[in-house]
Amino acid sequence: MKQPPLAAFFGALLAEPRKIGAIVPSGGRLARLMTSEIEPTAGKVLELGPGTGVFTAALLKRGLPARDLTLVELETRFIAPLQQRFPNVTVLQRDARELASCRAELGSQVAIVSGLPFRNMPIEVITAIVGGGFSLLERGGAFYQFTYGQSCSVPSDVLGELGLRAERLGRVRLNLPPASVFRISRIEE
Ligand SMILES: C[S@@+](CC[C@H](N)C(=O)[O-])C[C@H]1O[C@@H](n2cnc3c(N)ncnc32)[C@H](O)[C@@H]1O
Repeated sequence: MKQPPLAAFFGALLAEPRKIGAIVPSGGRLARLMTSEIEPTAGKVLELGPGTGVFTAALLKRGLPARDLTLVELETRFIAPLQQRFPNVTVLQRDARELASCRAELGSQVAIVSGLPFRNMPIEVITAIVGGGFSLLERGGAFYQFTYGQSCSVPSDVLGELGLRAERLGRVRLNLPPASVFRISRIEE
């Protein structure tokens, strides 16, 4: 049976608020900023925590071929709606903590777009996800993350341990709540 994406969102929010970490899906302005640096012909892109698919739709709208996009979503309620809405995109029901062991399956990526609620996660989990993500990213690849806070939601200790830096791309005041987007990249590049 088809379930509308918003019904899936509010069902998941009521059942597991810390896993969702947002009161509503991201808005179009935030989706455009999150995807603004992604060159549609550059290669494969991984999206973590797509939820209802707001960033997925923005990536496809930029011209990214559906075959170059893989979604990693843990919450069961979002899987069927994502598959129905984006039939040519690969949707994996997977914990983003497992990324480090997915290299053979996923191959190398040019960018990672993440809607994960890092502020609700322990530091070891953030380290595993971001470290695993960078094990998949090509040289020059970037990890895009939004946050409702002022600073990057990947703690500076984790960035330092992994040899990464975070730069703010911008802030979207007209999002509910207002949100900032950070580009995380390797320091040596
Ligand atoms: C804040 S919502 C963002 C949804 C969407 N990207 C947006 O911006 O509207 C967080 C998403 O991350 C997913 N998520 C949380 N922990 C996860 C994990 N360990 N692995 C994969 N997805 C996870 C949740 O199920 C949810 O879809």
